[in-house]
Amino acid sequence: MTVNGRPVKQSVSPHLRLLDFLREELHWTGSKEGCGAGECGSCSVFVDGVLMKSCLMPVAKAQHSEIETIEGLEEQGKLNVLQQAFQKTGASQCGYCIPGMMMAATAALRANPYAGREEIKERLGGNICRCTGYQKMFEATELARDVMNGKLTIELLKEEKEEGPFIGSNSFRIDTSSKVTGALKYAGDMVMPQMLHMQVLRSPYPHAEILELDTSEAEAMAGVEAVVTHRDVQGIDGFGVFTDDQPVLARGKVRYVGDAIAAVAAEDVLTAKEALKKIKVRYRELVAITKTEDAIKTGAVIIHDDVPDNIVMHIPIRKGNVDKGMAEADFVIEETYYTQPVEHAYLEPEAGLAYLDADGTLVIQSPSQNITHHRQKLAKILDMPVNRVRMIMSPVGGGFGGKEDMHYQGILALAVLKSRRPVRYVFTREESIIASAKRHPFSIKYQLGLNREGLIQASKIHMLADAGAYNCSTEGVMRKAAILAAGPYAIENLMVDAIGVYTNNTPSGAMRSFGAMQSQFATECHLDLCAEKLEMDPVELRRKNFFKEGDETHTRQELGSVSMLEVFNSALDLADWETGISNSRGATRSDLAQSGNRPPCTLGARQFPLETISTGQAA
Ligand code: FES
Ligand code: FES
Repeated sequence: MTVNGRPVKQSVSPHLRLLDFLREELHWTGSKEGCGAGECGSCSVFVDGVLMKSCLMPVAKAQHSEIETIEGLEEQGKLNVLQQAFQKTGASQCGYCIPGMMMAATAALRANPYAGREEIKERLGGNICRCTGYQKMFEATELARDVMNGKLTIELLKEEKEEGPFIGSNSFRIDTSSKVTGALKYAGDMVMPQMLHMQVLRSPYPHAEILELDTSEAEAMAGVEAVVTHRDVQGIDGFGVFTDDQPVLARGKVRYVGDAIAAVAAEDVLTAKEALKKIKVRYRELVAITKTEDAIKTGAVIIHDDVPDNIVMHIPIRKGNVDKGMAEADFVIEETYYTQPVEHAYLEPEAGLAYLDADGTLVIQSPSQNITHHRQKLAKILDMPVNRVRMIMSPVGGGFGGKEDMHYQGILALAVLKSRRPVRYVFTREESIIASAKRHPFSIKYQLGLNREGLIQASKIHMLADAGAYNCSTEGVMRKAAILAAGPYAIENLMVDAIGVYTNNTPSGAMRSFGAMQSQFATECHLDLCAEKLEMDPVELRRKNFFKEGDETHTRQELGSVSMLEVFNSALDLADWETGISNSRGATRSDLAQSGNRPPCTLGARQFPLETISTGQAA
């Protein structure tokens, strides 16, 4: 075959995927693996001019083909027009999807140099981006199209150098060039001489005692350099964002499906996988708790011995006299709301490369969102001075809070210290979903007492959150959920309980908004429900109850200045709220079908001609 115009001749297993051949054998790491299942498009390459997902193609099928990867798009060492357009529009954030997206956009313009927005959308439809919302990618492709067709000049793609402050000016992101060329190295792209590959044995049970763990057969296998278990931990075995309740590798017990038990570092991934099969684990299954209500029942199975009530964190807030407030209310309206666990689905699965540097310092490169914290934890776990542990944050291919936890860096460290060789570990998408923390699912019992005018007299909010098997960020999430539970509304009599409990589900951790989303969802749904019961415009109900200057928050800070009403009114104006009919909810109302009426609520985003500041945040 040829790759980017260069002939390539190599003997490999015919079953090897084209993606692995390009990345692991030829070290063209621009093409990324996001899913390994043909869904995300991050591995897209051209095979004989046809856009293909290289994770689905055996290399044998491409053996006489011309392959083009992202690295082949540059023209004479310079960004091509499309790459410049992506740079100009700021179409990349974390950048992990960008190589695949560039290939799809290239395919779109090759197929139809005059493609319109809808066709571009259609042709980029096989590629997933978790960060950008796609609009800038469509804009970039249109911009490139118009420059290529001579409708716009190439000068337009240059950076506008502006004097003065950065805020409000249109600067290029300094890392865009490496993202649009595929040159940026994420942890899974990194290699070192003598590097081993790690695989992890994970629990098939949600809750079980480990009666026996025998790694001798795996250790004896050719190509295996190290097998690590909890027995290799020299220091204090435990990590977490708030409490150190998670062992690096299961210690006598597994607490969720996916809990790490042992790991193998071997010459290649296949050998490491084979060795995992040789590890013998004898389990005694325990009753698993999968519902939060069951976790707090008297006599419930205990998940962590030192937490007999299974309560990770309880944050109460008390203000005024809720019973009196409810008794004096004209209406008391109750409902229970549920939110589900949410997978972060960052396009870059977890990965890390660890090694000992020339001075014997342990170095770990991974897309960790919390390197200082992880460094301290690792030093304690490994019983090493903190200055002998170095964490380097590799480019983060999307995090959204999900890479704050140290789920695998400790295992990598153990494997390096045992093998004395560099070790790399790259999660599969399946492993990422099984093993990493999710957004906390909540059940929220909401009780609101109101008078006839719609003024809130009292509020009682009881939130039960599923922390899963380990604390991770539960403590912080409970604090935030409790503080924000009652929303931006002045309430004299308030009782909030935010309780995070252990279960045998996948751990819950940090995710964007950190507990606020769940409580706000319940609050705003409940206000809509109350408005309906009171036959009042939901907008008016909110206006009546907003905090005002001089009010005290639910946690007793005096508010010196409150702009809630202005912000709310501006949002309503921009949404043309008042042109719709009042008090309409849901999609089933027949009056919604009439022209000019307010459309039903849908999840999504609307664009308004507002000036916005983009932070380019992806992590
Ligand atoms: S489509 Fe190939 S990695 Fe996702
Ligand atoms: S920029 Fe697309 S996944 Fe992050």
